[in-house]
Amino acid sequence: MSLNPKIKDWRGKVVWIVGASTGIGQSLAHILHRQGAVVIVSARSQDKLSAFVAQHASSIALPLDVTDAAQVTQTAEQILSMHSRMDMLFYCAGYYTAQTASNVKDPFSLAAMQQHMTLNFSGALTVLHACFPKVGHIALVASVAGYQALPNALAYAPSKAAMQRLAEGLYIHLHGSGVGITLINPGFVQTPMTAQNNFHMPALISAETAAKAILKGLAAGRFEIHFPRRFTLWVKLLSLLPYRMYFAVCRAIMPRPTSQAPTTL
Ligand SMILES: NC(=O)c1ccc[n+]([C@@H]2O[C@H](COP(=O)([O-])OP(=O)(O)OC[C@H]3O[C@@H](n4cnc5c(N)ncnc54)[C@H](OP(=O)(O)O)[C@@H]3O)[C@@H](O)[C@H]2O)c1
Repeated sequence: MSLNPKIKDWRGKVVWIVGASTGIGQSLAHILHRQGAVVIVSARSQDKLSAFVAQHASSIALPLDVTDAAQVTQTAEQILSMHSRMDMLFYCAGYYTAQTASNVKDPFSLAAMQQHMTLNFSGALTVLHACFPKVGHIALVASVAGYQALPNALAYAPSKAAMQRLAEGLYIHLHGSGVGITLINPGFVQTPMTAQNNFHMPALISAETAAKAILKGLAAGRFEIHFPRRFTLWVKLLSLLPYRMYFAVCRAIMPRPTSQAPTTL
């Protein structure tokens, strides 16, 4: 039995994608538009959103910054006044820079730690608050980096773990109320976010492949959608190990904690 309603037909569905100017969010917007959804794209880059709308008739660009609560509320109200409902919300906005606790110049950058939480987690809270109670289905993009800590993801991993716990909590509380909740945990996806990575990214996939995997998971009614499985299943397995073994494996297979090489997932 599936944990969520199976969403197979997107025709006429009102879909708000926050973080749609590039990467996974933009690929989702593109495919959903092709499948007949009413696509509303948001992010800060007005030029990129306008370019998307110019190529996708009847899609709508509503630029916003997720750190501006008033702007987020106003945008959600605008969508609801235009369409009287929001069938699906995707929170794809995100931020990553490599962080360690062993950078000699800035051993624990408070600004960087807070920036990750602000964009990857608090921004989602702001958007959710603006959409309740009129949203039909919520899809939150976290990362396999949220399963357990990783080198260079000192700031990123906790923000993604918080997103995972949020999605689980929402599911527990909202299941049966008619609101679907989906947690999305990608592995490596080729986007502007991972363009900064200067190392081999195992099982790297395109943003289009990621978007297709997300829609496949929604069609199957999954709670958690993780991909590509040839990579994410290994990361899941690692996170089941006792700490002693997990840390040993991390030391053996991952860049040293003192490395400046980013390891975003
Ligand atoms: N790429 C990967 O390998 C990977 C793996 C696991 C998880 N993820 C997660 O997947 C999600 C999408 O990432 P991506 O790889 O597609 O990266 P991306 O191409 O960099 O997309 C990030 C999106 O977030 C938007 N954004 C950033 N700050 C914002 C703000 N203050 N207000 C509104 N929008 C903002 C960006 O648009 P503007 O700059 O125009 O605002 C952009 O549209 C993120 O949550 C990321 O952590 C990615």
